[in-house]
Amino acid sequence: MKQAQPYELAPGYHINRAINGCWQLSLGHSLNGPLDPQDVMRAFHLLVENGFTTFDCADIYTGAEDFIGRFVSELRQGKGTVSPDDIQIHTKYVPDINLLRDVDFAYTESIIDRSLRRLNRDILDLVQFHWWDYDVPGCLDVAGYLVKLREKGKIRHIGVTNFDTPHLKELVDAGIPVISIQSQYSLFDRRTEKAMLPYCRAHGISQLCYGTLSGGFLAERYIGRTDFTPETRSQVKYMQVIEDTLGTDGYQRLLQLLRQIGDAHGVSTSNVATRYILDQPGVGAAIIGVRNSRHVASNAQLFTFDLTDGEKQAVAALLREYPGLPGEPFALERTVGSKYRIIMHMNVNEEEN
Ligand SMILES: NC(=O)c1ccc[n+]([C@@H]2O[C@H](COP(=O)([O-])OP(=O)(O)OC[C@H]3O[C@@H](n4cnc5c(N)ncnc54)[C@H](OP(=O)(O)O)[C@@H]3O)[C@@H](O)[C@H]2O)c1
Repeated sequence: MKQAQPYELAPGYHINRAINGCWQLSLGHSLNGPLDPQDVMRAFHLLVENGFTTFDCADIYTGAEDFIGRFVSELRQGKGTVSPDDIQIHTKYVPDINLLRDVDFAYTESIIDRSLRRLNRDILDLVQFHWWDYDVPGCLDVAGYLVKLREKGKIRHIGVTNFDTPHLKELVDAGIPVISIQSQYSLFDRRTEKAMLPYCRAHGISQLCYGTLSGGFLAERYIGRTDFTPETRSQVKYMQVIEDTLGTDGYQRLLQLLRQIGDAHGVSTSNVATRYILDQPGVGAAIIGVRNSRHVASNAQLFTFDLTDGEKQAVAALLREYPGLPGEPFALERTVGSKYRIIMHMNVNEEEN
């Protein structure tokens, strides 16, 4: 069975096209009770054994870097067949919004050193930089600090997350060697298709997408359901997106169509939703949140089938009947007072020190 699918994110640097997302492990993410850490650890081992060797976390996902660090220790101690050198760990550098004016090189290095310690690594494979407020100067300087840390051997590659196209272009024009951008991209949120994807394709920058399963809402278990209590912070976020795009009726129609396509290939509704996004030109990988070992077997089916042109056209035609989200990626989230912004935690790094 063809389970994983490698992707060359930068020359000589290979990842899997389905990345294991670890926001789900952070403190307070789960709203329906605590996770079972042993089951999550089991999921990690199963995932890497199936070739799903790439992980995504962040400096601000409280507890997630430490958890991955413990996983690295287990691999180092010889548990399983995969070497810690054969996994890739992507983290982020997300300076608090309240600190943006004061971020200097020493602070940046202290956060990178903390990630190295927590993750139990000598070098960070990919650091994805985020800047909460474009009106606060310093974004380019701080990105430059990451370049310096790369020269010091602490970082292998630099990416960004939640930038819009003009600000990504500023970084690129300033010579920051950005290899990837992490943005929300799903059947509901296609803001990245307008300018970001074409720009990235032209500049060899890969899209690493989150939200492709919309917190798990793109799954069979939601067929026929009309009201839900969010089980995670992720679902709180994507409920807003669904509400402002397909709405309840369109969402249910989409689920039915995805199930019908999945049935034809013997795969799940979720597999179809993820593959549709992975098949878009310029997309490097989809990040799929891991809370337990429940979905490992299903996600191992991701690369066992191909969507036909007719199936992709049917999905696209349905989506065209409904409004999309306006503006650039993350623009609504940056709009002061918007419902998308008020649910975010923008000052987590200091609490973590
Ligand atoms: N840069 C950013 O701002 C940002 C923002 C959000 C996320 N991310 C990254 O992206 C990752 C993904 O997060 P997300 O919020 O976008 O969530 P997501 O991946 O859209 O949804 C994850 C949820 O989907 C469900 N699921 C997974 N595989 C499934 C399958 N085969 N069938 C049915 N359900 C399945 C699981 O729910 P249950 O376990 O509850 O069933 C899981 O918790 C995060 O961990 C993080 O690394 C980054």
